[in-house]
Amino acid sequence: MCGIIGLLGQEDVAPRLLNGLERLEYRGYDSAGIAVVNGCGTAVHKAVGKLDRLRAVLDGVMPKGRVGLGHTRWATHGGATEPNAHPHQVGRVTLVHNGIIENHAALRQGLRAQGVIFASETDTEVVAALFDQMLYHFETPDAAFAALLDRLVGAYALAVVVDGYPELMFVARQGSPLAIGHGRPCEDGTAEMAVGSDALALAPFASRVTYLEDGDWGVLRPKSLELFNRLGAVVTREIVPTPANTLTSDKGSWPHYMRKEIAEQPDTLARLMQSLVDPGEGRLTAFLSDVGFASTDRIVLLACGTAHYACHLASYWIEAKARLPVEVEIASEYRYRDRPLSGREIVIAVSQSGETADTLSALTALSGRVAARVAVVNVTTSSIAREAQAVLDIAAGPEIGVASTKAFTAQLLALMGIALKAGRDRGVLSDAALATAVGEIASIPCLVAETLQLAPQISEVAKSLATAPNVYFLGRDVNYPMALEAALKMKEISYIHAEAFAAGELKHGPIALIERGTPIIVFDGPDRLAEKIASNVSEIEARGSRVIRVGPGAGCELRTPMAGPLSSSFAQAIVAQLLAYDVAVEKGTDVDQPRNLAKSVTVE
Ligand code: M6R
Repeated sequence: MCGIIGLLGQEDVAPRLLNGLERLEYRGYDSAGIAVVNGCGTAVHKAVGKLDRLRAVLDGVMPKGRVGLGHTRWATHGGATEPNAHPHQVGRVTLVHNGIIENHAALRQGLRAQGVIFASETDTEVVAALFDQMLYHFETPDAAFAALLDRLVGAYALAVVVDGYPELMFVARQGSPLAIGHGRPCEDGTAEMAVGSDALALAPFASRVTYLEDGDWGVLRPKSLELFNRLGAVVTREIVPTPANTLTSDKGSWPHYMRKEIAEQPDTLARLMQSLVDPGEGRLTAFLSDVGFASTDRIVLLACGTAHYACHLASYWIEAKARLPVEVEIASEYRYRDRPLSGREIVIAVSQSGETADTLSALTALSGRVAARVAVVNVTTSSIAREAQAVLDIAAGPEIGVASTKAFTAQLLALMGIALKAGRDRGVLSDAALATAVGEIASIPCLVAETLQLAPQISEVAKSLATAPNVYFLGRDVNYPMALEAALKMKEISYIHAEAFAAGELKHGPIALIERGTPIIVFDGPDRLAEKIASNVSEIEARGSRVIRVGPGAGCELRTPMAGPLSSSFAQAIVAQLLAYDVAVEKGTDVDQPRNLAKSVTVE
């Protein structure tokens, strides 16, 4: 993953590099580093761990210089150590990289044979060493850089400075996103130029941005930007306004971003609801109006992680309300499968960040092969949004906590809107049925607010789970993907082994895991399967497990408000999120930035 930033400024850049890295920390926080070009060369400073560690290292000794690079890392090749931290410096070359160089081993071998000694285990240092060597063989650094890119296989966003060329920065994009920032014009005719993994990171420095396309590379100077495509031809790319500077680092009075984001859900859902439905009229608004749901034969949902579970859950709604076959696909699997396509599919990529590499690749690979490619995202300037033909904004606002919470429920609501729209457009959902569904949707923000009142009871249950080595989750129908999401939430922030099962599957193997006192959280419902889930509860209680039922029924330890068949999942989601959060707090883990994770997974 990793986030990169580069600046050619009018004044010392180091403080602003740190500011940019703060905005990129969602891409990884194993280590951070900056490089600043000065009169004598390029000074590199790195620290293992989060950005605060680098800030501490630089406290009182902030390097001076008007050109610099920054990097925040999620380790792929080599552990989270200082030698493996970026920027990497070899000879005259200093660079930062996001992506994976797949042929690094072969390149390294060749360079070693020529006497190069490597200081790190990274694929990135190989790029620096190779470029340093190529600088000797080409007349200009531009020519050497173009030749370097020809040698690289894999994914990269690169920003590179070269000693001896203090006002020049090379950039390149292949598979990993990169945006160029155009700063304010200065009196002397120069303009500050910047480069970053995303436009939001550039927002403080640049009023306008250019998104590079795959294969693009360029040379940034204070006064100019030259861009080329992979064939070396000069290209121009659109310059667009930088998206609104929406990042907030304000947790308010909440102890963690995750807790704040859980609490925000009545508001985020109310906002999204208004863009999807008109409750007064009992009908849908005009969203995704150019997408041909009436003539499609299949919906393909592509996503990873929590977004995938949102898709899984929503597939039940789309099948029921639109009578359409749905394929729910893990993007990292789908991109390498050879699925037969009719060409009439509507593909919907769901992603909070809009930058998840696997989801983006899977969506890109379907270009020209399906009827429509739609993005359901929280960042409408993201790579996935720009790749799709139509975009539905879940409008959840910045989600900072690594564990997805408010984006999950917003994805659910957006997909519910799509299910109803498809049903209406296909003529299988009557006006009356649509009005009933819209009425239920309108109740969701209040339902969520009411469910949040269960926080004290959930905290009590959490205390009893914090010492458990394993926690299991069960559900049927829409509550099966809910159980999967609850288990993901639990494991990613509490580090407790958590697994979810379709309740009916228990007898086919997983029931062997149950011991006396094993905690099992059961999401009750839906009503038409109440007896089935009750039987499953009897089976696990008979084997001594500690059952915690979640639902509106009298037998539920965590009793959610009464809700309709479409809205009940939102109440269950709140319980799942608070439970994981409270267990993590009880265990004292790093809730907002759990170990080994990053908010946005930008490598495959
Ligand atoms: O940005 P995306 O929605 O594409 O991210 C997908 C997953 O990486 C993400 O949902 C991840 O699973 C979260 N950490 C879950 O809380």
